[in-house]
Amino acid sequence: MKKVYVAMSADLIHPGHLNIINNAKKYGDVIIGLLTDSAIASYKRLPFLTFAQRKVVVENIKGVKEVIPQETLDYVPNLKKIKPDFVVHGDDWKTGIQKKTRESVVQILKEWDGKLIEIPYTAGISSTKLNNAVREVGTTPQIRMKRLKRLIENKSIVRIMEAHNGLTGLIVENVRMCQDDAIKEFDGMWLSSLTDSIAKGKPDIECVDLTSRISTINEIIEVTTKPIIFDGDTGDVPEHFVFSVKTLERLGVSAVIIEDKVGLKKNSLFGTDVPQTQDSIKNFSYKISKGKKAQVTDDFMIIARIESLILKKGLKDAVTRARAYIDAGANGIMIHSKEKTPTEILEFCNEYSKFNVKVPLVVVPTTYSSITEEELAHAGVNIVIYGNHLLRSAYPAMVKTVETILEHGRALEVSERCTPINEIITLIPGSI
Ligand code: SPV
Ligand code: MG
Repeated sequence: MKKVYVAMSADLIHPGHLNIINNAKKYGDVIIGLLTDSAIASYKRLPFLTFAQRKVVVENIKGVKEVIPQETLDYVPNLKKIKPDFVVHGDDWKTGIQKKTRESVVQILKEWDGKLIEIPYTAGISSTKLNNAVREVGTTPQIRMKRLKRLIENKSIVRIMEAHNGLTGLIVENVRMCQDDAIKEFDGMWLSSLTDSIAKGKPDIECVDLTSRISTINEIIEVTTKPIIFDGDTGDVPEHFVFSVKTLERLGVSAVIIEDKVGLKKNSLFGTDVPQTQDSIKNFSYKISKGKKAQVTDDFMIIARIESLILKKGLKDAVTRARAYIDAGANGIMIHSKEKTPTEILEFCNEYSKFNVKVPLVVVPTTYSSITEEELAHAGVNIVIYGNHLLRSAYPAMVKTVETILEHGRALEVSERCTPINEIITLIPGSI
């Protein structure tokens, strides 16, 4: 029998996939190269179903002889191994994102005289349309929660943006751009204490209570599907923290980050300009372990945030604490800095890379913003959080609008800088 290779993501199987397989089997034994989660995440959103779930589905389709993983978007490594007589694909990849992939397939097949067979695209159905439909249906707390771990496992770096209400949640959920043949978007949301407080006109000192913070979470959860990382400030006393863990977990929040400070907490970006007290390793480790015992699922993450660099306690203290917090059960380490350059963060990353037991590493490059995601990933960072940028960019725009109207005694001069009325009234689905 001849060998026929078909690559697919197969997240939401539809008649288009079956049409391809039915055609492919006419030419020989069909081997499906099923794209792994990381192969898919390298150029678009992580699939809804895991690789294992997708594999079971595809293995059971009539006409499929074998399913093997395709670890990259590029077919070439698998094709070189299998040397199929035919590669079958829909004819929709001649233009757009997959054009380059197609060209490399055509090229490599020449080496053993293989043939590319292109099947006319099944009109009226597409994974993109189905994906959008699924997104409209929404998600469940459990699926949303698990998604952060899947993202960490499958992406070189997970990209998180601050959100502080439903509208900013929608921006993080929906805005995407195409660059270098890949679709880029944010992977999830950071429920910053700073922006949640400032949006309410209050200081970032834990005076916005958990009930209010949870109402912000609910606002965002109602209109989004992406994972949420909650800024839990100090986590309060251990006896209170256990209840917060249960509440956040029940809502489907993926992770809480708590910082090792006690007493009246101020925003870290004040550094040592204001009095702030770091917790003892013993007490903070106890808080982490109490939190871990309180959670019900295996998926919820408690991430320990180290303030040693912020409080000028030095790299050695930060490293000692990271080890202790991991021992206490932390599922991630966030290392924070308010330096203008990333030097001390990179020094920490270098020490961290030598740890035998590691958990995902999180950074918030607000002050050392010149560092790129690629550089952070290279240093071993797993999650980058853009901590406050939606609020910080909206604020000057709003102030300018008020000043301009005051200056001119009318609104004409600001009209151009405002979203047109017909766009704003239809911005939110369901408005009409
Ligand atoms: C927040 O966003 O509230 C944070 C990060 O805790 S920072 O403001 O840099 O302290
Ligand atoms: Mg905060």
